Formats: sequence, C-alpha cells, structure tokens
Amino acid sequence: MNIQWYPGHMTKAKRAMQEDIKLIDLIIELVDARAPYGSRNPDIDQLGRGKARLILLNKSDMADEACSEAWMRWFEGQGFHVVKVNSRSGAGLKQISGAVQEACREKIERDRKRGILNRPVRAMVVGIPNVGKSTFINSFAGKACAKTGNKPGVTKGNQWIRLSKTLELLDTPGILWPRFEDQTAGLHLAFIGSINDEILQKEELAAELVCFLAERYPDALEKRYGEAFGACAQTIREMAGDGAEETHRRRLQAAYGVLEEIARARGCLVRGGGFDLPKAASLLLDDFRSGKLGRITLELPPDGGR
Ligand code: G4P
Repeated sequence: MNIQWYPGHMTKAKRAMQEDIKLIDLIIELVDARAPYGSRNPDIDQLGRGKARLILLNKSDMADEACSEAWMRWFEGQGFHVVKVNSRSGAGLKQISGAVQEACREKIERDRKRGILNRPVRAMVVGIPNVGKSTFINSFAGKACAKTGNKPGVTKGNQWIRLSKTLELLDTPGILWPRFEDQTAGLHLAFIGSINDEILQKEELAAELVCFLAERYPDALEKRYGEAFGACAQTIREMAGDGAEETHRRRLQAAYGVLEEIARARGCLVRGGGFDLPKAASLLLDDFRSGKLGRITLELPPDGGR
C-alpha cells in the first residue's frame, strides 16, 4: 500500500483516529519487529492517553530473536504490555487474550465494582501502513468472527467483531502516519519496504543496506552470496565508524562495489557489457525483505538492549 502523507491526509486520519479512540478501552498497536522505533508513531501516545495499551511486535519471524527480546523488555519498562507475533502464520496470537486481560485489568476491576459483569473489552488495531494490520485482524479474528453490526454511538461504517465474550475489535484498523522528521527511521522504513523506494534511489538504498549489514550482520552477505562477500563486509566494517560524512561516503562507495559483485555473481548484466546495478540492488532488497538474508533487526532499543 502506498499512501502519500500530505498534511490534509494526515489531519483527516488523526481526526478519524480521535473519534474511534473515544469508543474503545484498549489500543492494540502493531509495530514491525525489524524496526520497532521507525515503524512506531509516537503521536499515538498522546492520542491514546488514558487507554490501556498493547504493543504487538509483528513480523517477529523475520526479526533477530535476541533483539525482539530486548525490545520487549524495553517496551515493558515503558509500561506497555507486549506480545511477539507472526500474523501470517498465527504464531503468538494465543497469548493475546491473556495480555488483553492483563492490560485492561483496571477497567475490568472498575466495572466489577460497579456491578457490571462480562462487559467485553473494546479494542482497535492501529499502525503505520504495511505493518500487517489487515493480516493480523484476519488471522486473529479468523473464521469464527461475527460482526455485531452497527450499534448506536458507533461511527457509521464501523463494525465490531466479537472475538470472544471478553473482547470486541473495531473492524477497521487505524492508519498512523510514518515519522517524517527522522532520516534514519525513514531509511529503515525504506529497507523493510514500508515507504516508497523513491525517498532514495534504489542503488543508494541498497548500498546503505550493505553498509548496515557489514556492520551488524557481517555473515548475512557471505551466507547468501558466497565466500567473497565476507571479505567485502570486513573491508567496509574496518573503515572507521566515526560517523563522519567523508567516512560514510567512502563506505557507500565500497558498498557500490559489493552491489557490482552481487551483479557479477547473479549475472545481472546489461547488453553491451557492464553491470545492471539497479537489478542487483532490487535483488538485495528483495532478499532482505523476504527474509532470505536471515533474521535481521535494524534498530536496538534506546538502552542498547541491555
Ligand atoms: P497493513 O494492513 O498494515 O497495511 O499490512 P498488511 O496486512 O497488508 O501486510 C503487509 C504485508 O506484510 C503483507 O505482505 C503481509 O502478508 C505481510 N505480513 C503481515 N504480517 C506478517 C508477519 O507477521 N510475518 C511476515 N513474514 N509477513 C507479514 P505482502 O507481500 O504485501 O502481501 P501478501 O503477499 O502476503 O498478500
């Protein structure tokens, strides 16, 4: 899905979200486990003030397990309830009911004291485009779901999916807008394919990915493309990571060399000789996005994962 987040679109989404949030007890926020910082929009913290919160680290099948554990600990430390899930396969979904009860314990207790028994928790799913909201709703609600129909006070068009006696879900997810101001977050969203590749030229995006992999997952390139790539990764890694512009430029240049090697190894050639770098770049990005480079997480929590 490609959504252009021009301000008008964003204002409309924000208003719709504010209306929907009034109807619910719990926000189920999906983030991409490969980039839990970049794929979150912190505006939801303000919009959802006073509501119970559950974060789902989705696509955890493609993320580095140790990093997901570190992110879970960090989010829990921030007061969120967290579950790791794979919405495609359904792994982890069974833990959600317990987490919902836990997250809404205060509300349930309040209801009980007022003599209200068995009122289901009402929840909505939110997240930026492509984090897996529709996939999650489909597999979580499954075939057993029954739409309860419009009820008074419910925005026209909204329907509640009754998941159990204790949980109802708004059938349409809230779409959050991605962060715009943070370039690294933007780069990570582009790596995972959640925003247009157009923010960077494809080769440059792929070269940035090579630099990241050389630094953090040096074996990934070697395992996928062959032994020679181990040395390439090492060369890039050894160029001092001082963050200086000049060093970064040199690293990128070396990364373009890696793209050429991928083009050679995979026969990406242009007619008349020379390497088809855009094709090699697409190949690398597709391999990363489909998990063929292994389980990779792009970001560590602010505490460095301690
Ligand atoms: P959205 O509503 O938040 O925009 O996201 P959507 O459900 O459309 O999911 C976006 C892509 O992410 C889909 O892939 C979907 O299958 C995939 N996805 C969702 N959850 C998971 C997960 O936990 N693990 C993995 N590996 N993938 C997940 P697609 O290629 O765009 O579509 P399709 O080929 O699956 O139909």
